[in-house]
Amino acid sequence: MTEPATVLQARGVVKVFGQHRALDDVSIDLRAGEVHALLGENGAGKSTLIKILTGAYQATEGEVLLEGQPVRFADPLQAQAAGIGTVYQEVNLLPNRSVAENLFLGHQPTRFGFVQKKVIYAKARAVLATYGLDVDVRAELGSYSVAVQQIVAIARAVELSGKVLVLDEPTASLDRNEVDRLFDIIRQLKARGLAIIFITHFLDQVFAISDRMTVLRNGKLIGTSSLKDVSPTDVVRMMLGKDLEILHPVSTAAEGASGPVMLSFDGFGKPGKVAPVTLDIHRGEVVGVAGLLGSGRTELARLMFGVDTAESGKVTMNGKEISLRSPVQAVQAGFGFCPEDRKADGIFGDLSVRENLIIALQAKLGWFKALNRDEQLEIAGRYAEALDIRAANHDMPIKLLSGGNQQKVILGRWLAIDPNFLILDEPTRGIDVGAHAEIVRTINRLREDGLGLLVISSELDEIVAYSSRVVVMRDRQMVAELHGQDISPKIIVQAIAAQHQEAAE
Ligand SMILES: Nc1ncnc2c1ncn2[C@@H]1O[C@H](COP(=O)(O)OP(=O)(O)OP(=O)(O)O)[C@@H](O)[C@H]1O
Ligand SMILES: [Mg+2]
Repeated sequence: MTEPATVLQARGVVKVFGQHRALDDVSIDLRAGEVHALLGENGAGKSTLIKILTGAYQATEGEVLLEGQPVRFADPLQAQAAGIGTVYQEVNLLPNRSVAENLFLGHQPTRFGFVQKKVIYAKARAVLATYGLDVDVRAELGSYSVAVQQIVAIARAVELSGKVLVLDEPTASLDRNEVDRLFDIIRQLKARGLAIIFITHFLDQVFAISDRMTVLRNGKLIGTSSLKDVSPTDVVRMMLGKDLEILHPVSTAAEGASGPVMLSFDGFGKPGKVAPVTLDIHRGEVVGVAGLLGSGRTELARLMFGVDTAESGKVTMNGKEISLRSPVQAVQAGFGFCPEDRKADGIFGDLSVRENLIIALQAKLGWFKALNRDEQLEIAGRYAEALDIRAANHDMPIKLLSGGNQQKVILGRWLAIDPNFLILDEPTRGIDVGAHAEIVRTINRLREDGLGLLVISSELDEIVAYSSRVVVMRDRQMVAELHGQDISPKIIVQAIAAQHQEAAE
């Protein structure tokens, strides 16, 4: 049997940022018709490597070859022209332009040099239909959820990719059905002979779709191997350089161990967003929120934090009614909120890691009580250590951190205000397996410290691991509240899926 042709190759690539060697002598080769997983911890250098392959960064040393010929892409547009389509980790489309424009930006079908809107709209609808997406392609992209934006970014990259498709954590905000659809499309492209690089922190997805994998650790190449020859434990060991005991933590969140009611939402909702919810939060408990994307999970979190304003019901904290009409009021009441869409709602890209860490605390203290530099350094240092945030230094702009490390900074920001009630929306998204277990432990520790937490997650194993109660959202309503023995992935799935069964009957 002849070896499939190598399409894209990196040889001896080094990338230095200031003092930091993000990549140190890394080589990788991508073959026609393979899905090649690129794996490693947060900050290992995965995104940096694909940015070099696709012209977003230039290598400090080493070379890139396309079909055996050395290439030097000045920017991603040149790589696109050569048939390399890329979805970068942070969706970088234009939220104020229409869905259709985003899909075809820079390669719009034209007739006599004019963009033909009707043609574009029809084509956009047809392309997105293959992803099962039925949206108004004329509407602004920014009016849709992160998942929809992600699918548009993927569809765009697929349209552009004649030879290579690069996907940097494309599935982080997709639900199971959407991931299945994406995998169908990846299989079709593979059959057409494309080389596909796939970065993800979901090991089951690696094993479901990939042929080979390459592991990076601290910027160094650990190895490339066929997935047929390795087990998930081998992969984790290669990534971390050690074994990880707690891949599937079991629940330690016994119900009844929690304290008195701290916070009550009574008929709390907003027409069209979330039907009235009645829910008590006790001290020292984690309420897990399960539900598909679009079920109203994120909308509920946003109402609770005053980002959107509730139109019905009342909220009492320690017996006193409180108002949650803005995030400022929520922070004053002792609430913290880690949003799902870190790029849009979370990070202040140009501010330093330190400033991003202290910003909520500073807002809570009020701007007249400015934290001095020593205090800032102390707080930033403490949370960076507690959460193992890997940054060359805390004065660098947060946008230069790896995706997973940015996520940890946002969590640290809210821990720093010493909240009573913490809302976490998909806290482990984009976080590597090692840090993943660490975040689950952090959630459990905060619960033991007496905080009330509301944690939204698509990962059922994880919800089961820390929740003392689980509420299930469906169609923008709270449809179930599970206790004790009922907190299991199987029963949660049944509650999430009940509607589909009803519809089928
Ligand atoms: N433009 C930049 N300037 C300075 N440092 C950078 C820059 N881009 C990346 N780095 C650093 O290079 C290292 C590797 O980052 P990279 O984004 O490649 O990690 P990653 O493997 O993609 O991690 P994650 O899983 O968290 O996305 C990190 O320490 C990061 O802070
Ligand atoms: Mg990355």
